[in-house]
Amino acid sequence: MEKIKEILEFDERLTEYLTSFKGVYLNPGSVLRVPSYAWGDWGIELTDDNIEELYYLSQKAYEKEWGETDASLNKLVGVASVNAGLGDVNADMNNLVGKIAASFLADISSDKELRVLDIGAGTGATTLATLRAMISIPEKWKTLLDRTKFILVEPSEKRVLSILDSIENDLHMPMRVADSIEFQFCKDIDIDVDPNSINIVISNAAIHHNAVLDRSLRRIAETMKEGAMFVNGDWHNDVWHDPIEFAVKLYPKLLSLEGNDLDSFFKGYFELFAEGSRPSMFLDMYMQTSLNKSFYEFALKFCELYPHTKAQKIADDQIIQFWVSVNNEFKKESENRGEKVTATIDTLESHEPIPQRKRTMAVSGIETDSIKVQEMFQHLKRTGKYVEKGNVHRMIETPQGISDLAAVMVAGKRNR
Ligand SMILES: C[S@@+](CC[C@H](N)C(=O)[O-])C[C@H]1O[C@@H](n2cnc3c(N)ncnc32)[C@H](O)[C@@H]1O
Repeated sequence: MEKIKEILEFDERLTEYLTSFKGVYLNPGSVLRVPSYAWGDWGIELTDDNIEELYYLSQKAYEKEWGETDASLNKLVGVASVNAGLGDVNADMNNLVGKIAASFLADISSDKELRVLDIGAGTGATTLATLRAMISIPEKWKTLLDRTKFILVEPSEKRVLSILDSIENDLHMPMRVADSIEFQFCKDIDIDVDPNSINIVISNAAIHHNAVLDRSLRRIAETMKEGAMFVNGDWHNDVWHDPIEFAVKLYPKLLSLEGNDLDSFFKGYFELFAEGSRPSMFLDMYMQTSLNKSFYEFALKFCELYPHTKAQKIADDQIIQFWVSVNNEFKKESENRGEKVTATIDTLESHEPIPQRKRTMAVSGIETDSIKVQEMFQHLKRTGKYVEKGNVHRMIETPQGISDLAAVMVAGKRNR
């Protein structure tokens, strides 16, 4: 598919198909929500003629989700992640982002204003965690508070303004702190600050709301001063980039179908895809070789051919469990209301595996492995302010091993 009309029609067919089954309360959302490097696997051909419109439509595909919802959606995500056994992982990531950012800020020796950019500030949890960590730094906290200015970038005005109440009521901070907060109601790509003017970028669970990440990260890199740091908490897994994995891992858990019925569900799903996509190639392969095997079993085996580390596999299982929990929340809501209520967040997302995110950052001019970032960590370790293992910080340990799902990484702007 390369024509916009074909892609939009595919989106409609996909949603209609996947929501027509009993037990499914999740919408997939537009296919343009998956990371742009994987659009080809979903059958989308990127051409010079369609590229700008696809980039525009991919941003639109995320808009309704956050623009039309409020803090109750964050709460629901919190409940679903606890029920999925992940703990309140967003809160944990925010605390770590705040702690690292505050340490960096405290170490900057300059008497100029320190400028912090919070990307996808939401209801303010990432900035609040940073403020909390700043006030726990002995001696320096007062000057730090006076010197630091926060710029909160958030498309949803309704969400972000509630931070002012939190500063007063939860942190019991003087209102002059609120005076040092500036709001920009826009997406990351449209940030309005001078180039080379930001000391620290902070962000949690926001960067993945964007399928064309390199463009946004390049804009973020431009805003950073030489030597500035980007402290980024985010969700990472391999599931959404592949239409086969997406369906085969998630839907058997949502549908009350078995045996042949499950097989026909998957055949129907695979037939939605255009020629050249991974599912259509897989379907051809199946028809030629394995008609006597269960279609679902064959697809499951096919997914295993894609190389995953153990930490990625655990992350994939956990993200599926998370969505099963979201589905359950909406199932309960539907039963209470006596009508089907489908989820306000869509499943397809631009979650990149950790190695891929590091690459996307690197091509955008922000490096996670630079000597400068490593030196910073050594310094933080030596001074005892920060004692984790190093960059990247994976947040979830399971009895099976550590998971890639939620991680905080620090990246520095590449020296020109
Ligand atoms: C899961 S919330 C996280 C909010 C906050 N950082 C936290 O940890 O609680 C993601 C936020 O990113 C915002 N967002 C979505 N797309 C964005 C974009 N392109 N640029 C900036 N923010 C975006 C959403 O509106 C939402 O408030």
